[in-house]
Amino acid sequence: MLPKKEVKKRKEFQLVKGMKDILPEEQRYWDFARSLVDRLARQYGFKKIETPILEFSDLFVRAVGQTTDIVEKEMYAFTDQGDDHLALRPEGTAGVVRAYLEHGLQTLPQPVKLFYFGPMFRRDNPQAGRFRQHWQFGFEVIGETDAIIDAQIILIAYKFYQAINLPVSLQINSIGCLSCRPVFENELKDYLKKRKSKLSIISQERLFKNPLRILDSKEKEDQPIIAEAPQQIDFLCEECKNHFIQVLEYLDELEVPYALNSSIVRGLDYYSRTTFEIWTQKEEGRQSALGGGGRYDGLVSLLGGLETPAIGFACGVERFINQIKETDFKVPEEARPEIFLAQLGAAARKKSVLLFEELTKAGLKVVENFSKSGLKPQLEIADKLKVKFTLILGQKEIIDGTIMIRDMENGIQEVVDFGKTIPEIKKRLEKSVVNDQPEKV
Ligand code: HAM
Repeated sequence: MLPKKEVKKRKEFQLVKGMKDILPEEQRYWDFARSLVDRLARQYGFKKIETPILEFSDLFVRAVGQTTDIVEKEMYAFTDQGDDHLALRPEGTAGVVRAYLEHGLQTLPQPVKLFYFGPMFRRDNPQAGRFRQHWQFGFEVIGETDAIIDAQIILIAYKFYQAINLPVSLQINSIGCLSCRPVFENELKDYLKKRKSKLSIISQERLFKNPLRILDSKEKEDQPIIAEAPQQIDFLCEECKNHFIQVLEYLDELEVPYALNSSIVRGLDYYSRTTFEIWTQKEEGRQSALGGGGRYDGLVSLLGGLETPAIGFACGVERFINQIKETDFKVPEEARPEIFLAQLGAAARKKSVLLFEELTKAGLKVVENFSKSGLKPQLEIADKLKVKFTLILGQKEIIDGTIMIRDMENGIQEVVDFGKTIPEIKKRLEKSVVNDQPEKV
């Protein structure tokens, strides 16, 4: 037990609310998520981009929208010592578009396909699957308007969950463009205004600032009103309608099942046309959105570039990993060490340090515990690690110029020439691999 003073000291330093440590035993899930992201990115020709966690606050105010919850209530924004107004990024798309413009990526052959994997910050109310620092992997295609890209982006998002055998439900909508959305918004506003007194307080506030957001309200009293509300799909202009029909046709072709859902308006202002979310099938609802995205055809020009169509999505890494844990999908285990190097006595320990270097240089998966000196505790560790062989270097071996190889499965110990340690251990490892092979019937 820790002394009282120590316990007290520890309590003073705790995680900031809504943050999470990722401990060593969790890392294999993260490694798996990263490698899956890298694999799918490579397959579909996406290049990695890393943008800073810190940006000028204005970038998010402009891109995500002043009246969104993310900017209005959840952004970690502050003024630094040089009077710059900065913010921890609440999402990844704005920074990617800024980088696209700042580094002249619009001069490359279009579309430019980028992906990222990094932490985002939102001062939301922490709860299961909702953190103040959370991680996202995101894919963005900038410079293409064709519906085929919408379908492909949705397919990629969908594939992440297929890869872990998780049945998901893809919710899709089109929120139109700058020319047809205002017509719908007016219609919606009129409809909602007539029912204002029955709306929740939050929705009443949103009525004038951002009426579209009322459609994805989770408040109970709003539900019957939302169910009867006019739908964007009935107000799409000819081009948006055709675009949406094509997206759905491509999805049919790709055999990606989807559900049309007029409440997928998303919580960020930059979207136009296609919007979508990936939900768990178990608990369909926004709380459990595993990922989401859509077109943002107006964002590049909003941030100072030329009119450039774009689309993308991002998924929450913690939510992805939670789903892995809930299914019986097996994440690859970390490669197990094959050899333990045990040493006894000062001279042996000295020689072991160098031997360890040589063993790793020879490509062998070896572990040690130089802080232990007795043979028993070292063999116990070797047992726990389930290594195949333990190399034992003691006083006698040093004098004789030998080393002992202990087969951990049957306990048989053999003495070999110290100078031949590497070939001898390799020979035994190869033999044990052959023996491990299942018998052919
Ligand atoms: P988003 O829907 O706000 O979209 O976030 C993407 C995903 O991040 C969510 O579906 C969810 O899985 C995860 N997520 C969001 N907030 C939290 C949180 N507080 N805790 C844990 N996980 C969270 C975007 O951010 C857009 N930038 C996506 C996009 C990319 N659209 C186009 N390109």
